[in-house]
Amino acid sequence: FPPGCQAWRASILHFHDDPAFSERAHAWHEDGLLVVANGRVLAAGDFASLQSALPADAVVHDCRGRLIVPGFIDTHIHYPQTDMIASPAEGLLPWLETYTFPNERKFQDPAHASDVARFFLDELLRNGTTTAMVYCTVHKESVDAFFAESERRNLRMVAGKILMDRNCPDFLRDTAEGGVRDSEELIRRWHNKGRQLYAITPRFAPTSTEAQLRLSGELAAQYPDTFLQTHVAENTDEVAWVKSLFPGSRSYLDVYDSYGMMRPRAMYAHCIWLDDHDRARMRETQSAASICPTSNMFLGSGLFDFARADEAKVPLSLATDVGGGTSFSMLRTMNGVYKVARMGGTYLPALRMFYLATLGGARSMQLEGTIGNFAAGTEADFVLLDPRATPLLARRTERCDSLEELLFALALLGDDRCVAATYSAGARVHQAG
Ligand code: GUN
Ligand code: ZN
Repeated sequence: FPPGCQAWRASILHFHDDPAFSERAHAWHEDGLLVVANGRVLAAGDFASLQSALPADAVVHDCRGRLIVPGFIDTHIHYPQTDMIASPAEGLLPWLETYTFPNERKFQDPAHASDVARFFLDELLRNGTTTAMVYCTVHKESVDAFFAESERRNLRMVAGKILMDRNCPDFLRDTAEGGVRDSEELIRRWHNKGRQLYAITPRFAPTSTEAQLRLSGELAAQYPDTFLQTHVAENTDEVAWVKSLFPGSRSYLDVYDSYGMMRPRAMYAHCIWLDDHDRARMRETQSAASICPTSNMFLGSGLFDFARADEAKVPLSLATDVGGGTSFSMLRTMNGVYKVARMGGTYLPALRMFYLATLGGARSMQLEGTIGNFAAGTEADFVLLDPRATPLLARRTERCDSLEELLFALALLGDDRCVAATYSAGARVHQAG
């Protein structure tokens, strides 16, 4: 290893594959060493085998007793909904009308947008999340505020301006042409600027005209390395609404498909009320599903069908969907997804949950090799977890007989209190206490 590198000694877990489909999907180093230089991973392995390769001046951080995992990846979250998390409503559509739209109006003010972006990124990092796919509002200013704050911290973030030209209040409405023109301007300003990545973001089919969906699909084809994000098949009232707005479409997902919006780097939130044909299209086009369990239970939307999704080999990832989601914590989100899968007859091992929250997200975003595990050359985004963070966790994890039991205890009992420190590109961006 070169002079000036840094290393962290702790237990290390990361993934090379999906444990649901591969016997040797994970790497586990009980007494491990993570070696980093210039913001990138040089190696992750056993302390005993790597330490002799360290140069004399290497700084070794002794974090024994802690667990290092790749930074969590939250593939669906709304930063403008931070201040309205945990707002009561009877379901998705009344919740949007009563809380979401009035709250998003405030982001026409750049000072407000910057203030919320700062708090939001602090909160993500406090929870060990180093990458997220983020919805801004319809206002360009909300995107500039977000990316400026993310770039200042050198975080790997994906975000975009909401496109919305019908079925919403006037104060949040763009136009088909204007919205796409603004999106293109933002792509040129922010996509691949440092670690920032742009996502074309039509909110969902009911709030875009056919003209806007068509132009969004064309923009996505014109800039194939950008991301695309939207909502699909979250709630039965929403599905019925889409059916009435697009009577010619085979299904809700088919609306997006017919406008060229299914492709790699397209992220579809929820995917609850899909059919097998939809799932096959997800796989064929390498469009990814973003599973949002705390939001789906909070809004009473439904239960994601793991068995069917795995049968069809849909690319899967995990997300909080704050403010529909009730926590920024990907550990709490694991707790939610475990129970959702269980209710649907699927048993989710903890290894799978940690995969979904790390490499699963990276693969869904076509970012394997950049983030999501500790392969040599990846960006050094990682989290130090404390398995003894609370009295109950300490008591439970002391009694663990296997890696699976340890991870399961963290997934079912853990939250932000377990995040001892968060690193982005090798630099500490959060420390507890
Ligand atoms: N569908 C359209 N917009 C939204 C939103 O902001 N949150 C959720 N959960 N679903 C949506
Ligand atoms: Zn959402």
